[in-house]
Amino acid sequence: MPDEQRHLDHRLLTSTTASIPFPHAAQKPAAARSANFGQSQSAKAAHFDYEAYYESELDKKHKDKSYRYFNNINRLAKEFPRAHKESPEDKVTVWCSNDYLGMGRNSAVLKSMHETLDNYGAGAGGTRNISGHNQHAVALENTIAQLHSKEAALVFSSCYVANDATLATLGSKMPNCVILSDSLNHASMIQGIRHSGAKKMVFKHNDIADLEAKLVSIPAEYPKIIAFESVYSMCGSIGPIEQICDLAEKYGAITFLDEVHAVGMYGSHGAGVAEHLDYEAHKAGKPQGTIMDRIDIITGTLGKAYGCVGGYIAGSTKLVDTIRSLAPGFIFTTSLPPATMAGAKTAIEYQANYQGDRRLQQLHTRAVKDELNARDIPVIPNPSHIVPVLVGNAETARKASDLLLEDWGIYVQAINYPTVPVGQERLRVTPTPGHVREYREHLVEAFDAVWKQLGIKRTSEWAAEGGFIGVGEPGKAEELPLWTDEQLGVDTVLKEMKAGQGAVGVLEAVLENERKATAQAVSAAA
Ligand SMILES: Cc1ncc(COP(=O)(O)O)c(C=O)c1O
Repeated sequence: MPDEQRHLDHRLLTSTTASIPFPHAAQKPAAARSANFGQSQSAKAAHFDYEAYYESELDKKHKDKSYRYFNNINRLAKEFPRAHKESPEDKVTVWCSNDYLGMGRNSAVLKSMHETLDNYGAGAGGTRNISGHNQHAVALENTIAQLHSKEAALVFSSCYVANDATLATLGSKMPNCVILSDSLNHASMIQGIRHSGAKKMVFKHNDIADLEAKLVSIPAEYPKIIAFESVYSMCGSIGPIEQICDLAEKYGAITFLDEVHAVGMYGSHGAGVAEHLDYEAHKAGKPQGTIMDRIDIITGTLGKAYGCVGGYIAGSTKLVDTIRSLAPGFIFTTSLPPATMAGAKTAIEYQANYQGDRRLQQLHTRAVKDELNARDIPVIPNPSHIVPVLVGNAETARKASDLLLEDWGIYVQAINYPTVPVGQERLRVTPTPGHVREYREHLVEAFDAVWKQLGIKRTSEWAAEGGFIGVGEPGKAEELPLWTDEQLGVDTVLKEMKAGQGAVGVLEAVLENERKATAQAVSAAA
């Protein structure tokens, strides 16, 4: 019996029994009656103490400083990147949102969401199978397939669910499947692999030689999935996508690439790092034979650079149909609201046709990294848009985050274990197109002061100890940004800067032009 059928039968069975009317339902089941027969109350075993269990688990989190405190941050659509805390008067600047491009308040996105909400209401009303399939889902999936130049796409309630459901389904259904997973992979992939019950092999982060050694050890005829990311969100490193495709072809594996932190942000249409690696070919509308074309499964989110919520996979028609038909995480859940799907589609199309936001985001990232580095604040070097600042201790990272919020009105969340290994705790800064000079200067000044106040190690101090995870490491080659000067259109300006034209002034002029172009594009689209 197919799984879907089994679940349906199970639900049918339980609902039939539940609907049996009184007095039948009041009878105790036979097993329950006989279990207590002849026993006195005092002879019963002590029951499990649930509350004590919860308390001991929470105690452990407090003791190892990994207990999570949530900040109440209400992002203001009309004042991006500002937000208010509990009280509307208590305003702060958000420096750690994954709404990387400010699409969560983009007027074109809001317009399409408002219209769809008024016409089609709040929710989808059902699963995709039962009343929740509609024109918004069809259109969104077509747009996603087109974005990644794949035959088909499938939308899930989040990319956590997309990753979990897809890996769990493929890994459990394909006989003898082995899943090779990068050691820094996101929890959603780790969970999917665990749920699949398939054999897992973890290869060292971005280590092609280690991956190959593992591939060689697997029988040629076994199905193999290489699961990895393009931008690793906590350190900003970038996966060696092309080399992994080469290995996959050599050893008969398929590739599963999570582009969650890259969609909207890289490539000529915002399809991610795989697109970015063949920037010109995609700009010319020639995806055939590119690296993105060689990837078997691309997964992405609608909740970060696209500013909405939801996740997806894109791949061949048969792959997508298989997941659609077999994955419980897709089948047995209410589909996304129509307005969300319409808004996400608008966001993807907007970013596919307009480069201004992601270019400005990259320029702001460069400026923040440069200015923090100039103050000896330890930025973990990387080629992406993430600005991870090393603290190295969980309690200090939290204190630094609290001080920034309370004394400076700057919200940067501390990132502690288990999101990063113990000893590598950090503050993760994510500039957006809205973080203009005033905000940046304020941020850099605040970091400098908090570093002084808490005595947090500077880059030069890490260097004196031989360096750590790229910070102050001797002989470490400079990490060139993935977005080149030419792609950003600043190569001529930067040459002028080098010729001594006053670096900061020129960069600010570039940033100001970009900001104006963005504002114009937004109002034109409204
Ligand atoms: C690498 C990676 N994959 C998947 C996800 C899950 O995406 P979503 O937020 O859409 O569930 C995240 C979320 O943070 C992520 O960082």
